[in-house]
Amino acid sequence: MPSPTLFPLFCVLFLCFPVAVIFTVQREITAAVSPELGFHSRNLHASTPAVRFRQQIPKDDEQLLRLASRVNPNQPSPGSIRKLAFMYLTTAPLPFAPLWEAFFNGSSDELYNVYVHADPTREYDPPFTGVFENRVIHSKPSERNTPTLASAARRLIAHALLDDPQNYMFALFSPSCVPIHSFDFTYKTLVLSRKSFIEILKDEPLQFERWAARGPIAMLPEVRFDDFRIGSQFWVLKRKHAHVVARDRLIWEKFNKTCFWEGSCFPEESYFPTLLNMKDPRGCVPATLTHVDWTINEEGHPRMYELEEVVPELIVRLRNTRPRYGEDGINGSDWTVGRSDTFLFARKFSPDALELLMGMARTVLFNDSACGA
Ligand SMILES: *[C@@H]1O[C@H](CO)[C@@H](O)[C@H](O)[C@H]1NC(C)=O
Ligand SMILES: *[C@@H]1O[C@H](CO)[C@@H](O)[C@H](O)[C@H]1NC(C)=O
Ligand SMILES: *[C@@H]1O[C@H](CO)[C@@H](O)[C@H](O)[C@H]1NC(C)=O
Ligand SMILES: *[C@@H]1O[C@H](CO)[C@@H](O)[C@H](O)[C@H]1NC(C)=O
Repeated sequence: MPSPTLFPLFCVLFLCFPVAVIFTVQREITAAVSPELGFHSRNLHASTPAVRFRQQIPKDDEQLLRLASRVNPNQPSPGSIRKLAFMYLTTAPLPFAPLWEAFFNGSSDELYNVYVHADPTREYDPPFTGVFENRVIHSKPSERNTPTLASAARRLIAHALLDDPQNYMFALFSPSCVPIHSFDFTYKTLVLSRKSFIEILKDEPLQFERWAARGPIAMLPEVRFDDFRIGSQFWVLKRKHAHVVARDRLIWEKFNKTCFWEGSCFPEESYFPTLLNMKDPRGCVPATLTHVDWTINEEGHPRMYELEEVVPELIVRLRNTRPRYGEDGINGSDWTVGRSDTFLFARKFSPDALELLMGMARTVLFNDSACGA
């Protein structure tokens, strides 16, 4: 693979023509099918101007997804730049924005795009600035224990698919996620992968209750109990799989139903693993690269690191931990053999930890050779 610094040249030389064609075609589709187009700016802080995407994107979910399902699911051309889409799902200002800013600092903005889904019923003060400025997509209210979080993730995927044909890997984050490697390391790990990283687990606690949360037979016949999978809400999907999500109606219709039992309603943790396990299990590494500690579980929330725990040794330990792989995989093959996936991100950190994390950003967090010492 050519070095990232050469990518802009490749783009200029080989890509401008096909990219121009793609944009033109997308514009025509947009004009043909969507009467109600628009940008989101209402309810956001006054100093946050309307989003500027490369094309107009419909506000209506059905239109948005229909349009996104028509994009090219492949890379525009084999040598083209592969971009990472960083997608943040939030209901509050991003407490670690300065850390992400430092993470992106110095890397070419040709290599990534940022998208933010921000529940429009909430306040965002301070407003989104820097790499997050103008990157808020048309968002809708999102709440735990309802399908709205998964809806928001689907909206992010659809925007990212439509916005840039070079978006190649689509990563989802919460406000409490932080990066634990440099941008370069993260970029290489993700764009060199031919598979998505998504935890896909079977036989988890409350598996049946979660499947039956919408009523005993509500998921049938499309999603049998045997098809149902559970995994972390935080995944990195390759473009082909982002497209599978945008195109899916049948399975989503089941997961989008209202739950009778809120306590077992976590569609954002089961829709994506179930869908991808049904459609393309071989295209997935069944693990998440976002570290989380569930040994402490407070009312459905995992451990949040206390300030005194946020030390270099914690970061080193998280990096040295190996992910948990879903064991039913493809054909019973053992995923742990021959793989050395490393966590790229971690949660949950309390907003107070910002200063401590910034203090160790250069020396530890983004220093790929930092090890226990
Ligand atoms: C980005 O890096 C430059 C040069 O190293 C530095 O001066 C600047 O403060 C950094 N900005 C952020 C937001 O980290
Ligand atoms: C999901 O369900 C909600 C509430 O019933 C509905 O308004 C929305 O249109 C559905 N979304 C899709 C994409 O089917
Ligand atoms: C399982 O699938 C892997 C990957 O496709 C393949 O290499 C392996 O030979 C298969 N194992 C068995 C027991 O079929
Ligand atoms: C990165 O980590 C290595 C190993 O711990 C250390 O020797 C080096 O000084 C660190 N680099 C920076 C810039 O702190």
